[in-house]
Amino acid sequence: MAAFPTLRTKRLLLRQFQSSDAPEVQRLAGVKEVAAGTFLPHPYPDGTAEQWIASQQEEFDADTLVNFAIVLLTQEILIGSIGLAIVAEHQHARMGYWLGLPYWNHGYATEAVQAVLAYGFHQRALHRIYAPHFLSNPASGRVLQKVGMTYEGRMREHYRRFGEFVDLELYAMLEQDFRQR
Ligand SMILES: CC(C)(COP(=O)(O)OP(=O)(O)OC[C@H]1O[C@@H](n2cnc3c(N)ncnc32)[C@H](O)[C@@H]1OP(=O)(O)O)[C@@H](O)C(=O)NCCC(=O)NCCS
Repeated sequence: MAAFPTLRTKRLLLRQFQSSDAPEVQRLAGVKEVAAGTFLPHPYPDGTAEQWIASQQEEFDADTLVNFAIVLLTQEILIGSIGLAIVAEHQHARMGYWLGLPYWNHGYATEAVQAVLAYGFHQRALHRIYAPHFLSNPASGRVLQKVGMTYEGRMREHYRRFGEFVDLELYAMLEQDFRQR
C-alpha cells in the first residue's frame, strides 16, 4: 500500500488531513463565501468534517482520491484543501480546491495547484487533469489560467447550486502540455 504523499512548495506544505483538523475545516469551509464557489454544504453540519477526513484514507487506497490539507509552512496553519478525484481507467482526474477566506489573494491556490499538477502527472501518471469552476467565480478561473491550463468551454446550466442552475467553466491540462510548458 502506497504511503500518503507530502508535497512542499515555497510557502506551503500539502499533507494528509488528520482528524484533529476537523474543527478548523468546519470553521473555514463553513463560511458562505467559501461554500459559494464549491459544493461544500452550507450551513456546514457538525460531524461532516470528521466524516470527510475519515473517508479519505480508504479513497486514497482505492486510487480514487488524493486530497491534501494546505498548510502554511512557516506557521503550520491549515488554510485550505486541494484534491484530485481520479478515474484510473482513463488516467484522468478532476481537481478541486478551496481556501479559507482570510487567505485569499496571496497566490496560495496558484502555488498549491502547480504542486498538485506536478504530482498528478509525475507521481500518478495521469494523462489529463481538469478543473471546472462556476462562472460566478472568476478568481478560480484566474488561478487555472495562471498555471497554464487550457480553457475548454462553458457547460451551460450544468449544475444546480443553492436552487439555481449555474454555468460551469471548464479548464484542463494534458500531460504533454505540462511537459512542454
Ligand atoms: C478560488 C480560490 C481558491 C482562489 O484562491 P487564491 O489563493 O485567492 O488564488 P490566487 O491568489 O492564487 O489567485 C487569485 C487570482 O484571482 C484574481 N481575482 C480575485 N478575485 C477576482 C475576481 N473577482 N475577478 C477576477 N479575478 C479575481 C486575483 O487577483 C488573482 O489573480 P492575479 O494573481 O492575476 O492578481 C479562493 O478564492 C477560494 O477558495 N474560493 C472559495 C472556494 C472556491 O471557489 N474554490 C474553487 C472551486 S472551482
